[in-house]
Parts: sequence; structure tokens; C-alpha cells
Amino acid sequence: MALVGCGSALPSLSLSNDQLSHRVETNDAWIRSRTGIAARRVAGPGETLTSLATDAGRAALAHAGWQPQDLDLILLATSSPDDLFGTAPRIQAALGANQAVAFDLTAACSGFLFALITAGHYLRCGTMRRVLVIGADQLSRWIDWDDRSTCVLFGDGAAAVALEACPGAEDGLLGFRMHSDGRRAECLTLQQGQERHPLVEGHTAQRGGFQPIQMNGQEVYKFAVREVPAVLEALLKDTGTATSQIDWLLLHQANQRILDAVGTRLGIPADRVLSNLAAYGNTSAATIPLMLDEAVRDGRIAPGHLIATSGFGAGLSWGAALLRWRGPGGSGA
Ligand code: ACO
Repeated sequence: MALVGCGSALPSLSLSNDQLSHRVETNDAWIRSRTGIAARRVAGPGETLTSLATDAGRAALAHAGWQPQDLDLILLATSSPDDLFGTAPRIQAALGANQAVAFDLTAACSGFLFALITAGHYLRCGTMRRVLVIGADQLSRWIDWDDRSTCVLFGDGAAAVALEACPGAEDGLLGFRMHSDGRRAECLTLQQGQERHPLVEGHTAQRGGFQPIQMNGQEVYKFAVREVPAVLEALLKDTGTATSQIDWLLLHQANQRILDAVGTRLGIPADRVLSNLAAYGNTSAATIPLMLDEAVRDGRIAPGHLIATSGFGAGLSWGAALLRWRGPGGSGA
């Protein structure tokens, strides 16, 4: 598969740490020093997961120079869908991608990476020619805004990548690894409540409704700084790649301290570790394509560049991929 276009969309409201400190007992200095986050975007009226993801998808199509009807598949990575039956078909309709099949994939902050790898397989086996992978989350609706240990971390956003089939020698997915460990699921949850309502004599039925995000921050932190370097080192070994060959380390944007720790462990200089979480916080499935889009558009990522990426988060889930960016119109170096 080749990575040929990207695009993103963000809510208009940027909520600074100072603004948040009026709502919950926190302060800018604590949030910046512990996380690197200065602000996050929060979806307002009229900004839905569907609208943000659609705008991101449209931008990626324009960047790739494609028409909506060129698409065979739209894969939406999200943990905060507008419709639990599937939000991707709504995006398909809004884009006018009438030929595409569209479905959701959920793997929290690993969702975009897992969706990208999934799409790569459809493209490689020849059943699909053009795919849009969208990472989008609106976690603001599942945050307890009175819980300072979680509400400072997350933001809303959407971003997309356009992928197309290509000859094997030009394949931009050079290697990947994926992992899950449900035994540690309780570290980070967004799960159903226990409320029940009477059904018939002697029976009750569960009432749907999710509880706010709950997180054991220290356990998640330890998990990330242990598993992410390990999976990246294994991937580099698999692919016979030296760290000096990597142009960019593109990690899920959860916490600047995690980015710094992984970069140091791998011996990758800080100026090659991409970071934009100061402005957006953790947008879950959107962080990796959001960062990719920003770095492609400002010229840091250029055609032919080698990108080591890693997603990690709830599940627990984590993985890594080695990617070569091609960009629109032509093959990479
Ligand atoms: N403002 C001020 N003080 C705070 C805040 C806040 N927002 N949050 C917590 N504190 C306080 C605590 O109450 C505690 O006070 P105490 O010592 O009086 O009890 C103190 O700060 C230290 O709290 P810790 O939880 O020990 O802080 P820590 O240094 O571990 O930092 C953090 C917390 C930033 C959450 C860190 O653990 C972390 O980054 N973990 C990883 C989280 C993460 O990345 N999650 C997303 C994963 S990706 C996904 O799938 C969604």
C-alpha cells in the first residue's frame, strides 16, 4: 500500500489549561510539567464525530487528488462513535463515496494504527484499490469534567489518510506488530454502567449508557514506557532498520514525558520525535494521523521519508509500524 494523502479537522473551541483551572482544581504549571499539554479542542454545537471525520476525510481526498466515488473502503477508527451501530456509513454518505463499504473499528488509542494495518491487507491482497482510514474521537463527551486526573488529558479531533494499492517494491508498510492484553483492561476504561430496569416479573434488563473514562494513570504510564520502546525495537529488528535510518518517530500523542522517554530509550534525537500534543492533548485514535497531517503540510515529512509509528492505549492495546510516506502524485524515494 502507498500513503498518498492526508487531512484533518478540529473543533473550533480551544480550551486552555487556565480556562480549565476555573472549572476544576488544577493549574497550567502542573498540567504542562506532567503532560506537556497546554490546550485541547472541544467539540461545540454542530460539531459531531461524523462532521469532523467527514471534513478530515474530504481534506485527505483533496490532498490525494481523488474523487469520493474512487473509494472502495472507508475504515473509521473510533471509540466514541455517534452511532454504536456504526458511524462510518454516515461518513460515506456525507462524502458521497457511493462505491465504498464503510465500517468502524475500535481499539482506543491504537485504533488508527490497527485500522491502517487492516487496510494495508485489503490493498495488498487486491480486493481494494483505494481506502480512506480515518482516526476520530470525541472523548469530551465521555470525560468527567470534575475529575482533574483525566479531564486535563483529552481533546477532540479527526484526521485521515488516503491509501492506495501499489506494486510490492513500493509498499509503504514495511513492517508492523500488534498486541492486546485484556488482563490489564481495567487500567483504562470507558465502559457500560450497571443500571437496570424492570422487564417482566422477576427480570430486569440492562439500560445502556457509558460511565466516564476511568484511568490508573501511573499504570498506563508504566505500560507505555515499557511496551512502546520494546515493540519499536522488535519492529526495527524485524525489518533490519537502524534508528539512524528513521526520519521521524511518530508516537501516539498521550504525554510528552512518554514521547521523551521512548525517544531517549531508542536513541532518537528529540528533533526527530514529532509532537503536537501541547495544542491538542490526547485525541485518542486521531493523534497519529493529526500529527502526520501537520508534519506533511508544514514540509517536515517529505516524500520517501521513513516513519516509525506506535499506537498504545486502552485494551490494553499497542503496536508499531514502519511506514514510508509517498504523498500525492508519484512514487517515494
Ligand atoms: N492538577 C493538579 N494536580 C493533579 C492533577 C491535576 N490535573 N491530577 C492529579 N493531580 C495530583 C494528584 O491528586 C496527586 O496529588 P497527591 O500527591 O496530593 O495525592 C498528585 O497530583 C500526583 O498524582 P499522580 O497521579 O501520581 O501524578 P502523575 O505524576 O502520575 O501524573 C498523569 C498523572 C499525568 C496522568 C500520568 O500518570 C500519566 O501521564 N499517565 C499516562 C496517562 C495516559 O497517557 N493516558 C492515556 C493513554 S492512551 C489511551 O488509550 C486513552
